[in-house]
Amino acid sequence: MPCPHCAKSGHWSALTHCENFKIMPLAREGRSVAIGAPSDPAQGQLMDNPIYALGHSEEELERLRVQSRFVEPITRQFFQEAGISAGMRVLDVGSGAGDVAFLTADLVGETGEVIGTDRAAAALTTARQRAATKGLRNVSFRASDPTEIVFDRPFDAVVGRYVLLFQADPAGMLRTLMKQHLRPGGLIIFHEPDWTCVRSFPPAPIYDRCCQWIIEAFRKAGQDTNAANNLYAAFASAGLPSPQMRMQTFVGGTTGCSDWLQVVAGLAASLLPTMEQLGIATAADLEIATLTDRLQKEVAASEHMIIGRSEIAAWSRL
Ligand SMILES: C[S@@+](CC[C@H](N)C(=O)[O-])C[C@H]1O[C@@H](n2cnc3c(N)ncnc32)[C@H](O)[C@@H]1O
Repeated sequence: MPCPHCAKSGHWSALTHCENFKIMPLAREGRSVAIGAPSDPAQGQLMDNPIYALGHSEEELERLRVQSRFVEPITRQFFQEAGISAGMRVLDVGSGAGDVAFLTADLVGETGEVIGTDRAAAALTTARQRAATKGLRNVSFRASDPTEIVFDRPFDAVVGRYVLLFQADPAGMLRTLMKQHLRPGGLIIFHEPDWTCVRSFPPAPIYDRCCQWIIEAFRKAGQDTNAANNLYAAFASAGLPSPQMRMQTFVGGTTGCSDWLQVVAGLAASLLPTMEQLGIATAADLEIATLTDRLQKEVAASEHMIIGRSEIAAWSRL
């Protein structure tokens, strides 16, 4: 099975052999960060970016596609309300398998343009193939951190989904994107996750335990699971105008929770190496092969009400 952190085969279950997966505990803050991340020139000190705990294996890229089907209507609503519209030139930050770039391309139409970016070239290979299959001519991709590259002209909008949570300095990323890539009057919008309300009633033990493992894996890997608290502050610290915000959450029982439970099982699978390395849970605890099925059966058996992750958007205009 290929390693979820570098896509090479042979060391998926021996993560210390993968040079893309080195965790250094930050004892004082009780969290862990990646080693060897770049320094922050603005502050003159080392800003370690957290490890990207999800990796870019084929399974993870497929998980992003499945997740996108679940959240696309929400992202679409956020982007439309914020003002992403026909003819705009848009920069997508952290494109992964390309879904946000494709959604944005649909909103800006043939007179608009979307440039997607990602540090992971492997993810963009998939994104480019998918764009070609869809026959999209208004989308292209660049393999890079967009805060580290120059574009020939500024953008009408900068967008991103599930990206700021992976940054050691989200405000710094927003500030750089605003200063380097956004035209005066331009729009910046990020859609980020918040796990603080996730629960079930009456308690569904498999669901609750699985969500707790996911939250713990993200937190211990140094990734933010609380956009409700932190997204507004990041916009403010970046010097952006006070953002407008929206929040949506999945709430429901057997009817309609199937997609969300699939997202939970997929996330658990992608985070399993992190969970194992950090001593959170083992493959035997998760039983990935049957997890989706067990989650679905658990909810159906006792009419549990499920509350999912909150989807939060913040946007500002310069
Ligand atoms: C969880 S995925 C989300 C992908 C896509 N936005 C979506 O919603 O389906 C996050 C992506 O952001 C990328 N990423 C994280 N930090 C980045 C950075 N500083 N510059 C470029 N890409 C980044 C990761 O490589 C990963 O592919």
